[in-house]
Amino acid sequence: MKTVCIIGASGKLGRYMVRHCLDRGYKVNGVCRKSSVAKLDPFKNHITIFSGATNNRDVIKRAVADCDAVLTVLVPWGRKQYATGTAQAVLDFARPEARLIFSCGWHITRDGLDKFSNSLKWQERAARWIGLLTRLLDIDDQIEACQRVFGSKGRWTVVRGSNLEEGDSQGLPMWSKHVGDRILESNITRRVDFALFMVAAIDNDALVQEAPAIVGCATPSAHAHAA
Ligand SMILES: NC(=O)c1ccc[n+]([C@@H]2O[C@H](COP(=O)([O-])OP(=O)(O)OC[C@H]3O[C@@H](n4cnc5c(N)ncnc54)[C@H](OP(=O)(O)O)[C@@H]3O)[C@@H](O)[C@H]2O)c1
Repeated sequence: MKTVCIIGASGKLGRYMVRHCLDRGYKVNGVCRKSSVAKLDPFKNHITIFSGATNNRDVIKRAVADCDAVLTVLVPWGRKQYATGTAQAVLDFARPEARLIFSCGWHITRDGLDKFSNSLKWQERAARWIGLLTRLLDIDDQIEACQRVFGSKGRWTVVRGSNLEEGDSQGLPMWSKHVGDRILESNITRRVDFALFMVAAIDNDALVQEAPAIVGCATPSAHAHAA
């Protein structure tokens, strides 16, 4: 039986990942802030909870020990390198052979070959300024976190999510190497399926050291590509 650690387990994406992992029969360790432990009540008899900030190195060290895979929700909260601290702790303490899957958005680029629309560029600029003014988030922190992952030697995958929506699963999202590829044009994915892609990536070696940008498999651009 695989043991999977989910870092950021109490969030919307995290709870979908917990559900998918339990459905597959995996043993689950979940890391979440102390104030959010109650959000995991529906799973409390089925998973082991490690409470603490996701950038708390001691918590991460204990939670990832002996795990075959670590699924990390990278979020750029605050202005104290939260995402970078989270990613670095995972890189430092996960077993060398563990599958490491990180989540982020399309704004992350691995090789600089993504083609961002003007509206995406505008959204990123707006998020950067809002984060600076409110001190509530730091897009550059998430960028730095991903650069550290890209520069590491492990069995990582960085899953780049499109815009998200709630709703029933439509199936495993489609992916492409670069934002701007036509298959991604619809720019929408069900959150439950983003989580499905993260969990399925554990067993997909074709995604090792890749940064797939995903889109819902039932969207018009995914259908057009299939046709
Ligand atoms: N939202 C989008 O449209 C979108 C689009 C593309 C990609 N993504 C990516 O998807 C992933 C999850 O996004 P999501 O929108 O679905 O959110 P989510 O799953 O609800 O995740 C939010 C996470 O942030 C934590 N969090 C909230 N406030 C915090 C704070 N002040 N300090 C520290 N942690 C805090 C939450 O933990 P608690 O449960 O403890 O609050 C939760 O683990 C991220 O990697 C994001 O970059 C999102």
